[in-house]
Amino acid sequence: MGINVALDGPSGAGKSTIAKKVAAKFGFIYVDTGALYRSVAYYTVSQGTDPGDTDKVIAGLAGCRVGLEYREGTQCVIVNGEDVSDKIRTPEISMAASKTSAIPQVRSFLFDLQKDIAAKNDIIMDGRDIGTVVLPEAQVKVFLTASAEERANRRFKELREKGDPSTYEEVLADINQRDYNDTHRETAPLRKAEDAVEVDSTSMSPADVIETIAALITERTGAQPVKKKAARERKPLLDFSGVEPVKRGKKLNPIRMFFYNLLRYIVLGGFKIAYNLKYEGKENVPKDGSNIFASNHRGYVDPVFISLACRVPNTFMAKEELFHGKKFFVWIIKKFGAFPVERGKGDMQAINTSFEKLNSGRNLVIFPEGTRSHDGKVGRGKTGVALIAAVAQCPVIPVGINYEGEKLKFRKKVVIRFGKPISPEQLKITTPGAKELKLLRSTVMDSITELVH
Ligand code: DC
Repeated sequence: MGINVALDGPSGAGKSTIAKKVAAKFGFIYVDTGALYRSVAYYTVSQGTDPGDTDKVIAGLAGCRVGLEYREGTQCVIVNGEDVSDKIRTPEISMAASKTSAIPQVRSFLFDLQKDIAAKNDIIMDGRDIGTVVLPEAQVKVFLTASAEERANRRFKELREKGDPSTYEEVLADINQRDYNDTHRETAPLRKAEDAVEVDSTSMSPADVIETIAALITERTGAQPVKKKAARERKPLLDFSGVEPVKRGKKLNPIRMFFYNLLRYIVLGGFKIAYNLKYEGKENVPKDGSNIFASNHRGYVDPVFISLACRVPNTFMAKEELFHGKKFFVWIIKKFGAFPVERGKGDMQAINTSFEKLNSGRNLVIFPEGTRSHDGKVGRGKTGVALIAAVAQCPVIPVGINYEGEKLKFRKKVVIRFGKPISPEQLKITTPGAKELKLLRSTVMDSITELVH
């Protein structure tokens, strides 16, 4: 077991803000267990289940896989392969989580995941039952409180800044209700562990709270705050110092290209009959190769839809899990140019393969969301596409895939829209620094979103 710090307390006590800062100070991982409960609530709601219907919620758990990934020190929650980190922060999910988290089976469902992370890492974990149930053996336990009025006041200000019309009285009533739910549930109610240190933040500044907890951690575990530079050294950024930008304009074998395009037109004809397939913005598809296509993802046929519009053969970055499927399926996707990527891990091998393919004159297709979207909405993209484009200095062509209805169906309309190429050069992106990647990623994701309607 690494260093375990348990931080419990009622809603709105500022646990997550404090825990994040303390984690950064000591180089620990911050585990937000509330997000796990919210994920189960999100899954429940997305299945159309009433969060108050205990039996149905429990039955649904069999189909729910919750996982945590850490990207640049930020926790991302993954439900059945989908990054739901942003989607779990709505008032609807807060209320649903308050109900589903009271169900003992939901708590035991998430128990092992929490234990496992704490066993393998130095962590600060916040929640309601961390010091009492999840990590009773934690070296440091803090119970962070503040008066209900002060918590309501802080929350009210936050909401007002976001333009939320709730009144102070409503916010206070909500806090009181959540306190009541958390402290009165039968399983793992919110309470201070006997050996926890209570920190009342009502009239303390966040900096004072952080200092108090940091001093306690050092006293109990001997851990010292890490120097900023050392903290950075612990997580080296991927090293691209020796990687040259892609030399674009490489010509592929003309005879092979002739047969490739012949076959492409035949398949395109077949697809136009099978689906009511329309392409828009085809003028944005370059005639040469070494381009990156970044698309939203609706179904397994998407790579084919994109490729049928390109004169140059494409290669695809596909989630690693697909390569463990049926042999025939794996053979087919490999034949069509797919290669595996381990998502969320900065998979250097996949990145190198991408450069190789782009250097060979082929295009690269990436689905930045990392997984298919069933409701058609465009989710948060991963940074990989921006990283590859920034290092390779290749343009990114945004693609919007639109199906009529939820699933691809015979003769139903499919519209593939290509947006204007986004070039790292135009955006003055010459290095894969954090700021540059953020800009490139958001430009690409915004363009994709515009093409999906
Ligand atoms: O901290 P939060 O508001 O994100 O938590 C969401 C819900 O999950 C909240 O209703 C309390 C519950 N929760 C819990 O029961 N146990 C935890 N360890 C963390 C959160």
